[in-house]
Amino acid sequence: MATFGQIIFCSMITLIVLFSAIIILILALALSGSTSEVISTNTWPIGNLGEDQLLSCYVNTDSQAKLTKVSVTWEKKDLSGLVYKYQNAAPVLGDQNSQFKGRTQLFPDALVTGNASLLLRAVRSTDAGVYTCAISSSTAGGKVNINLRTAAFSAPTFNVLDGNLVATASRWFPKPHVTWLKYGNKVLNGITNFTEDTAGMFSVVSKLQPVNISDTYTCRIENNLVTAVSEATVTGVSGVSENTYFTYSAASSLLASTYLSIMTTVLCIYYLT
Ligand SMILES: *[C@@H]1O[C@H](CO)[C@@H](O)[C@H](O)[C@H]1NC(C)=O
Repeated sequence: MATFGQIIFCSMITLIVLFSAIIILILALALSGSTSEVISTNTWPIGNLGEDQLLSCYVNTDSQAKLTKVSVTWEKKDLSGLVYKYQNAAPVLGDQNSQFKGRTQLFPDALVTGNASLLLRAVRSTDAGVYTCAISSSTAGGKVNINLRTAAFSAPTFNVLDGNLVATASRWFPKPHVTWLKYGNKVLNGITNFTEDTAGMFSVVSKLQPVNISDTYTCRIENNLVTAVSEATVTGVSGVSENTYFTYSAASSLLASTYLSIMTTVLCIYYLT
């Protein structure tokens, strides 16, 4: 048995590791990310395969003054050529990598306010990676890194069939797993079938039985990147009212530091007992 003193000792060690991890994370973000006034509203976006994704990048300035002589370069790590370049009030696409031809655009009207966000059309799995957005102008500039990850996700639709509550979701990748819950925490046993199409995309059909009219069930479809949480209320013998929201996984370094501190606690207690 660990004594009270040993538990205190382990807690202290864990706190030290956790704070070190947070400091390293902040330093890493500060050094690798924004070296300037250029920032992003989302440096870890998840693109939904086949859909458009905005990569956010803008000059963080309080001044209302319009920027002049704005030039913007978007590059992708380990990729030859450019993703996009804008200079002298026009796109400069001679060096653009063919992967991005016809799939990228800036918002020229937004550039004068320092907004150089890039719209990437019809996201592909090969688009995943680290992008650098560099802005320069007569008064402000800098760069920021954006880590794009890709996945496929779609909200399920619900219906009641032969007393089963059935959730159907058409496109998921990587393969998700499905959990049914009642009152937000009691796990129920559903039966889930996956079908993989030729593109490697999974469709999901999950059935729950028995269900009661006017009860609300939670269906959670999740993979390592995206979670879809749906609340489905059975309104009649065939009716369901539903509502889905998505949450996206945070930066992997944050997960890594959490994992590290849990491991430290476990090892510390193990060695002391
Ligand atoms: C930048 O412009 C895009 C496209 O118009 C817009 O969606 C986004 O909200 C803007 N970002 C900021 C920080 O103004």
